[in-house]
Amino acid sequence: MTQHLAAPSTGTSGDAPAHQTGWWQDAVIYQVYPRSFADGNGDGMGDLAGVRGRLPYLKDLGVDAVWLSPFYASPQADAGYDVADYRTIDPMFGTLLDADALIRDAHDLGLRIIVDLVPNHSSDRHEWFRRALAEGPGSALRERYHFRPGKGADGELPPNDWESIFGGPAWTRTTDPDGTPGDWYLHLFAPEQPDFNWEHPAVADEFRSILRFWLDMGVDGFRVDVAHGLVKAAGLPDLGSHDQLKLLGNDVMPFFDQDGVHEIYRSWRIILDEYPEKKGPGGPSSEGRWWATGGRILVAEAWTPTVERTANYVRPDEMHQAFNFQYLSTAWDAAELRKVIDTSLDAMRPVGAPTTWVLSNHDVTRHTTRFANPPGLGTQIRTAGDRDLGLRRARAATLLMLALPGSAYVYQGEELGLPDVTDLPDEVRQDPSFFRAEGQDGFRDGCRVPIPWTRDGSSYGFGDGGSWLPQPEGWGELSVQAQTGEEGSTLELYRSAIAARRAHPGLGAGASVEWLGAPEGLLIFARPGFVCTVNTTGRPVRIPVRGNVLLSSSPVVTDGAEIELPADTTVWWTV
Ligand code: GLC
Repeated sequence: MTQHLAAPSTGTSGDAPAHQTGWWQDAVIYQVYPRSFADGNGDGMGDLAGVRGRLPYLKDLGVDAVWLSPFYASPQADAGYDVADYRTIDPMFGTLLDADALIRDAHDLGLRIIVDLVPNHSSDRHEWFRRALAEGPGSALRERYHFRPGKGADGELPPNDWESIFGGPAWTRTTDPDGTPGDWYLHLFAPEQPDFNWEHPAVADEFRSILRFWLDMGVDGFRVDVAHGLVKAAGLPDLGSHDQLKLLGNDVMPFFDQDGVHEIYRSWRIILDEYPEKKGPGGPSSEGRWWATGGRILVAEAWTPTVERTANYVRPDEMHQAFNFQYLSTAWDAAELRKVIDTSLDAMRPVGAPTTWVLSNHDVTRHTTRFANPPGLGTQIRTAGDRDLGLRRARAATLLMLALPGSAYVYQGEELGLPDVTDLPDEVRQDPSFFRAEGQDGFRDGCRVPIPWTRDGSSYGFGDGGSWLPQPEGWGELSVQAQTGEEGSTLELYRSAIAARRAHPGLGAGASVEWLGAPEGLLIFARPGFVCTVNTTGRPVRIPVRGNVLLSSSPVVTDGAEIELPADTTVWWTV
């Protein structure tokens, strides 16, 4: 077992500790949302067989790893983020044999697999919770969740004033087995997602065992859902008269980003470090299969008030990466972008973890549509905006992201330049937060519409049995088939950019960028062997040529010693 290192004291700078380096340092990681990626059995819902069949596409795209959103047994009250059994696959996605085959095929292709772990809450159909309800007050299983008596004369008021992220109170009252109203239980998300009580040793034991189960299956890591939520402030204190929606993400809350969470991740890190080498049945195969040499990783989904607090999750003895939501939330504006890039790099440097970059995921409006709208609307946008503008900026934003040091996340379909589907009729929507008033989320279905593989055909090649959310007209023109080999297509831009990152490791390496002087609205920075120029303004700007154009997000023409950098365009130069 590798040594368990103590957390560093705060603020010290220095080189990355040796054990913090590995494949993930500059990896491009592709998020698959299984229900919307590819449907192998034609039931209108994506599945593991579908993902397996499309692995060559991901290999060809050039990514290093694939993160799959949850595929475990689940009533799907929150699209699988409500897990009823952490060790089985939901029949709608396949079986454990399918998962095994997927992991093996991915490894054969040199792709790593990261699975989603949902430790903050289970489904209300999880055996522990079902029994806790059925056994009634006094059941020992209730201690594994947060059951409390209500306030008021008859316990008719919730135990505290916390609100669910999806809207409404964070508490639901139970009915006792004899039919009378009983205690309340806590759910920071939907009522079908009761929060675990992480003070209870059985909860901690269970998750250590679940980690081992999937590590033994051969996975290369875990994306940890709501990593900031597991520990609640002692006594579950009221928030007071604050507007919770305003505080979320801007302040430490009694239920988010409590310091106690870090102890949990230290204990998980010890387990991951026990798996220094991936061993399949019988050990490394003689048939020339590809086997990873160690490097199982933990990735935090931690919404914290500042990148400095996010850095706490990736101290040397905790997780390996954390999503950079501050970057995701930044407008298409040179000054803002430069600020968030600097702050992010500065925050991660002392802990030696790679900075990560992300523009889209399954919880936010796709960045093509965010950038098509005026800034300041947040990450849940209901209007299509100016689609051409959005796509131009999105392509430029991608080349900027892929020129930064660290690891980048790509959400399925962004390589096709897909917009959010903003006009889904209410009756087809499935996001639980859409149905609860005034939640933080609500419009997440728009980024979850199944992706188009072919120009025509049933559900544009997604599968033979339609698609669980309707695909818009014209989706086929954005398909993989329509864009493959097409000069200037967004898909080919992603392929070229990721290939260039591989061919020139300097692009993703290191932990800093060297800013060069730039006119207002532009970013110009050097990376080893490269210069990246970004015009975030809506007008062309003439700048001196910086070397040889390696890649550009829209067509450029150099003119002697100068170039006219088109509006909303990024260019990579080799020097
Ligand atoms: C995370 C997931 C989101 C889910 C929530 C509750 O934020 O990304 O999709 O709804 O956790 O599990």
